[in-house]
Order: sequence, then C-alpha cells, then structure tokens
Amino acid sequence: MIITIDGPAAAGKGTLAQKLAQKYGLAYFDTGMVYRAVGLDLILHNINPESEQNALAIARGLTFSKMIELSKHPEFRSDIGGQAASKVAALASVRAELLKMQQDFAVNPSFADGKKANGVVYDGRDTGTVVCPNADIKLFVTATAEVRAMRRYKEYLDKGFASSFDEVLSQTRERDIRDSSRTSAPLKPADDAVIIDTSDMSIDEVFNNVCQLIDKKY
Ligand code: DC
Repeated sequence: MIITIDGPAAAGKGTLAQKLAQKYGLAYFDTGMVYRAVGLDLILHNINPESEQNALAIARGLTFSKMIELSKHPEFRSDIGGQAASKVAALASVRAELLKMQQDFAVNPSFADGKKANGVVYDGRDTGTVVCPNADIKLFVTATAEVRAMRRYKEYLDKGFASSFDEVLSQTRERDIRDSSRTSAPLKPADDAVIIDTSDMSIDEVFNNVCQLIDKKY
C-alpha cells in the first residue's frame, strides 16, 4: 500500500505519516529531507541555495546515507535549513534529479533495520501529484497559517532554537508563497486527494478519521 500525504509546512503531516506507518507496517519517507539535505550541503559550502548549477551538482551526488548524515546537523530542521530547502525545491532541474531517489523507495520498501515493509507512507508537497500519482490513498493535510506557525514555534522552543511567534508566522507565510507559486510541482492537492483541515482537530482525531478511511477501502 502506498499512502501520500501532502500539504504546507507544519500542517501535521509528519506525525500523521509516522502513526500510519506504524499501524499498517509501512516504511516512512519524509521527502522534505532530500531538499533539506541539498540546501544544507550548499549552506555548509557557503553557496547560495538559489545557485542552480551548484544545487544540481549536489543533488546528483545525493545518496540515502549522505542525507541521513546531513540530517544530524543542528541546522537541518531549523528555519535556516527550511528556507534553503524551499529555495532549492523551486529549481525544476533539481526536482527532476531528486525524483528517482524518491520513486525508487517504493519499489522495495524497507525499514531502517533492512526488514521488508508492506509499502510506504510518503510525506511532502508533491508526493500525490508527481512522486506517486498511482498511490492507493492520497491525503492533503492543511491548517491555517496561524495554527501552523504556533505548532512550529512550540517545536522550535522545545528544540532550543531562538525565535518569536511573529517571526515564525512570517517565515511560514514566506515559505507557503514560495512553495505554492513555483512553476515546477507547486504545492496543490491531487485531484483525487482527500483534503483534511487540522486547524481544529487533535492529532488523534485526524489519525482516527484517516484510519477509518483506509479500513473502509481495504
Ligand atoms: O516538509 P519540509 O518542511 O521538511 O520541506 C522542506 C522544503 O522542501 C519545503 O519548503 C518545500 C520542499 N519540499 C518540496 O518541494 N517537495 C516535497 N515533496 C517535500 C518538500
């Protein structure tokens, strides 16, 4: 089974995806990691993430193990890493280069310990539209910018990143605009996606609703 979960930053995709992966024995692929890895690698080399030739060269050399290594860096999940990822993700040639790595994962899905999985839960922006257009279940998870910014702000506080709510709100809006207005694979629901607005829902409510939807279909 392949499930895709797309939507804007901090909409609750990651938590939902991991809970579904655990319940149904599926591997989890957070596709934002491929863009974060390329963006961070550029920053670490003091290269502007909007520099297409350099970004493409790094995307060409990206492997799973390199991505995991880069994910341990403190800036990988910070706003600096997120903004760099969003800039890199706006480059059509870089997206094309990183597509195969994401699609190949569904051919032989496995967990981190090498054990075979029953399928994959993809989490990203274009996983239902571009990465896996034939997915069995497609979800588009969203929430208002204010609700998402508050979730991200609390996450940053927990991780010890310095920030203010207003700053996180304006960063959230900036990233929404860039992710939705880019010409290559802009953030939008697939025609056959189920849209879930989590603004007034707890993660358990969202999870239970989605499980009902899956269990009804299978
Ligand atoms: O989900 P995230 O915050 O880790 O994603 C980082 C950036 O990567 C985000 O601003 C947009 C981009 N991205 C994308 O364009 N396509 C995906 N499938 C996943 C992420």
